[in-house]
Amino acid sequence: MDKLVIKGGKKLQGEVNISSAKNSVLPILVATILNGNNCTIENAPMLEDVFVICEVLKSLKANVSIDKINNKVKINTANLFDNDANDELVRKMRASFLIMGPMLGRFGNFKISLPGGCNIGTRPIDLHLKGLSALGAEISVGHGYVEAKAKKLRGSNIYLDYPSVGATENIMMAATLADGETVIGNAAEEPEIVDLARFLRAMGAQISGEGTDTIRILGVKDFKEVVYKPIYDRIEAGTFMITAAITKSLIKINGADGVHLKPIIAKLTEMGVAIEINENSIIVDGRKKLNPVDIKTMPYPGFPTDMQAQMMSLLCTVKGTSIITETIFENRFMQAVELKRMGANIKIDGRSAVIEGVDTFTGSEVTATDLRAGAALILAGLTAEGATTISDIYHIDRGYVSIEQKLKGLGADIERVSS
Ligand code: UD1
Repeated sequence: MDKLVIKGGKKLQGEVNISSAKNSVLPILVATILNGNNCTIENAPMLEDVFVICEVLKSLKANVSIDKINNKVKINTANLFDNDANDELVRKMRASFLIMGPMLGRFGNFKISLPGGCNIGTRPIDLHLKGLSALGAEISVGHGYVEAKAKKLRGSNIYLDYPSVGATENIMMAATLADGETVIGNAAEEPEIVDLARFLRAMGAQISGEGTDTIRILGVKDFKEVVYKPIYDRIEAGTFMITAAITKSLIKINGADGVHLKPIIAKLTEMGVAIEINENSIIVDGRKKLNPVDIKTMPYPGFPTDMQAQMMSLLCTVKGTSIITETIFENRFMQAVELKRMGANIKIDGRSAVIEGVDTFTGSEVTATDLRAGAALILAGLTAEGATTISDIYHIDRGYVSIEQKLKGLGADIERVSS
């Protein structure tokens, strides 16, 4: 298995290009299930998670071609039929559960393996199921499977107990083919929800209100051919912003969207990082002395849980006390154990982490326990004294395109080695 070896302490400089958003592309690829015509996704990020979701679609007999040179995915689901999705693939990636809504919408019947728990929390699917049953689906759960049946989905008023990203997406997709209007209250407002709505609209869906807490979907009969380019990845952009701050460098991040990054920009600015926002790029200057801050993860537009681990690495290097409160997932501080191996001073108390800044990280052998925890370890390694070796980096490859190449382009000493 591959490892990353980082020799820390290098000042970085230059420009980095951000890829398209993993969390936009996954539901968009899944949404092609609704459409029997050609769908082309341009500038698609060539990531493990994208390859897995494409395999899931292939297991349902979709015609999928991935052009890795031109970053294009072409999908035609005309010959799809309502057979069960490959269990192993579904369990491998939670986002696979998003196929439930569109499969139900198109075929009125679908059975899928229950998604497994995952490292960062139990991640129930009750909100997905409540929403789909409000659309008229009869749902049964048993023997490790969820089965949903509905002669025809019908529009409904649904109020989510919590603004779940996945549940909002699943319900939104199913509702595009339902009879009448669906209103989702307390919907998630993430930019990736807005992107999915735009994609659905581009193929003929009638949706309004995306990006607010109330989304309205008027069911349509069918869809048309579509070519679509998803938004940039705000989490990748945020990770490179922290790269500049933690290495005390000046980096230009191309493709970053200042609006989507507002909560991250606000926190880094509060810490003393200088940030210039341009139309298609952000320049981050982390060369000044930084101050500790407190952070609480919240649904968008609050501080994203997917940036919490990376922020922890940065705060470990800032003199003084910082507190991070994780409100979204119950078990998302696993990076702390690894960061402590590198010399961090972190105390975890339930959902809060108290961080006392230290002078420096020390290079160590550490393990990526999930995607963002892995990113946090890279950030720590970039500023550590000596060499850091990160194993289990397949987690990182799920969500960052060519991360070591991008960092090398900025002057980092980082190598991927096979062991
Ligand atoms: C998505 C993102 C993930 C991000 C998360 C929160 C994708 C592919 N993944 O995950 O990177 O960290 O949003 O921004 O887009 N919950 C329930 N019942 C449900 C559904 C969710 O209790 O039916 C809970 C979850 O356990 C969690 C919280 O709601 O505690 C947020 O989950 P949700 O917004 O659904 O996240 P995902 O869509 O799984």
